[in-house]
Amino acid sequence: MCGIVGHVGPLTPSTASSAPGSGRSLEVLLDGLSRLEYRGYDSAGVALVRPDGVERLTTVKAAGKLDNLRAALDAAAPAPATAGIGHTRWATHGGPTTENAHPHRAGSLAVVHNGIIENFRSLRAEVEAAGRTLLSATDTEVVAHLLDLDFTDRLAAAGEAGTVDPDAAAALLVESMRAVTARLEGTFALLAVTELAPGAIVAARRSSPLVIGLGEGENFLGSDVAAFVAFTTHAAEVDDDQVLLLTADSVTVWDAAGDVVTPRQWEVSWDASAAVKGGYDTFMDKEIHDEPTAVAETLLGRVDDRGELVLDEMRIDPAVLRSIDKIIVVACGTAAYAGHVAKYAIEHWCRIPVEIELAHEFRYRDPIVSEKTLTVAISQSGETMDTIQAVRHAREQGSRALAIVNTYGSTIAREADAVLYTHAGPEVAVASTKAFLAQITACYLLGLYLAQLRGNKWPDEVADYLENLGKMPAKLERLLAEQEDSIRELGAQLADQTSFLFLGRHVGYPVALEGALKLKEVAYVHAEGFAAGELKHGPIALVEDGLPVFVIVPTPRRPVLHDKVISNIQEVRARGARTIVIAEEGDEAVTPFADTVIRIPATPTLMWPLLTVVPLQIFASALAKAKGLDVDQPRNLAKSVTVE
Ligand code: M6R
Repeated sequence: MCGIVGHVGPLTPSTASSAPGSGRSLEVLLDGLSRLEYRGYDSAGVALVRPDGVERLTTVKAAGKLDNLRAALDAAAPAPATAGIGHTRWATHGGPTTENAHPHRAGSLAVVHNGIIENFRSLRAEVEAAGRTLLSATDTEVVAHLLDLDFTDRLAAAGEAGTVDPDAAAALLVESMRAVTARLEGTFALLAVTELAPGAIVAARRSSPLVIGLGEGENFLGSDVAAFVAFTTHAAEVDDDQVLLLTADSVTVWDAAGDVVTPRQWEVSWDASAAVKGGYDTFMDKEIHDEPTAVAETLLGRVDDRGELVLDEMRIDPAVLRSIDKIIVVACGTAAYAGHVAKYAIEHWCRIPVEIELAHEFRYRDPIVSEKTLTVAISQSGETMDTIQAVRHAREQGSRALAIVNTYGSTIAREADAVLYTHAGPEVAVASTKAFLAQITACYLLGLYLAQLRGNKWPDEVADYLENLGKMPAKLERLLAEQEDSIRELGAQLADQTSFLFLGRHVGYPVALEGALKLKEVAYVHAEGFAAGELKHGPIALVEDGLPVFVIVPTPRRPVLHDKVISNIQEVRARGARTIVIAEEGDEAVTPFADTVIRIPATPTLMWPLLTVVPLQIFASALAKAKGLDVDQPRNLAKSVTVE
């Protein structure tokens, strides 16, 4: 978790609207932190370095959301800076207090960190033995002191302690960063500034996200490109165990061996406005309305001149893909439910068994994986640590890994053998919505790709499925236009309810699980999703007078499935449940048993989840708003779970 941002460049702000005297670095840091706040919002802070004056390094931090930091900055009124680093925190070591907020200071320097230092206890004992007093409970402050101890030694050895040349100080801090990070166990993206080198940031990374933004006369660092996309769209990757030195005019990257390397660069296609609310009350609502586009963009450009499906990055030999005898999907939360939906389609189309495994469970049991297993990792952020570890675990055992991710250049994308990007654009609300639809779409593309490659489906059959997928954006538009208002009214009406059930069969089952997750996550209401057939095996005991039960009804064109679910609705209604039924337009069989019906455009069974989940997302958002909750940043959560 946590978001970090760094900037080196000129003193002056870029816009007339910036607060006078705030300086360019602070402008960049606050903009970046506001875009990264989805990664954690327990506390926030900045460190700013200016080229002259007595106190050249200033840190300002505050517990709580970014507005608290803004207020603290208004009071502190720091002078314009030539370098700055910022942090928004999701607490791991130490509670969400101002003392534990980053940056952490030691001697002449300040540090921000994303990740977890696993050997911090022994390192803390070491720095305390060296006479340092720590002010926080964090692992990061220990790193700041280790860095300062090493840096101080190097300055003394170089005879620089008195009048220090800033370039020499920056070079020595690079050496210290390399020496200290070599001793750290765990994960980190670390940025450090020192008052002895006011135009420089020194950074390092291992298994926590960090990207470079390349500007003109200024440079940037961020946990992801959202941190600097308002200022530059030129980005460059940072690999594990690399150390970096950024100045206004240069970016130097060293690999683990100490050799200078050239980072891979790319052009960010997200524009800054894609990461703002666009007139909606919340990011979650905006992102629900982005869903037709997210599906359309994920489908875009997938068919080559020969009419065959193509993936974005394929480093797996087709012969290997023809030989696979099992697919294991590793993912967490909503992404795992997308994989669960995909299981029905991929098994049906490709006749390959598909297992769905929560990434954190997969990693710590003894899964049966071989060279004939294809591991499919699904992740919006591409930085979920549980999923990263699962990918590594699978690859160590000879499996090829294919990533379905939304964030270009993310760790999972880089470590996998093949990548299929979901082009959903930035997802900011903690509750995943549009990414879920894009993930299902991408999984279906993968299923059709494998079916095509392995000869399970004829080209015209693949084309038929693609045509049906191609119709989904328009159906989503229609669903939003016709149903949103009444679903929102229902959400407001049911705001006092304390418990909900969600039932589905076949592909409706993972949709039921996702509906319950959305409600728990944003509205803090007890909600459970069940396979409708499981009801009589226990959960029906929960049903009592007035309990709201959502039921996802399959199309009547699949009578075997449809009729069974109608019986399930009758069973809960007979026991007093208030039934809210999601059914296809024209399906009148549901009417006698439904207290409320939400109508969905007719769609083939396998595509049904792309539509049926949308009312559940809207309902969760509406109910949470009616309760006055923070829909985009629910309590205790962070968008990107970058620790295990
Ligand atoms: O970034 P990822 O897709 O790997 O994230 C996985 C889960 O943490 C995520 O889907 C989480 O469950 C969402 N908050 C659900 O809305």
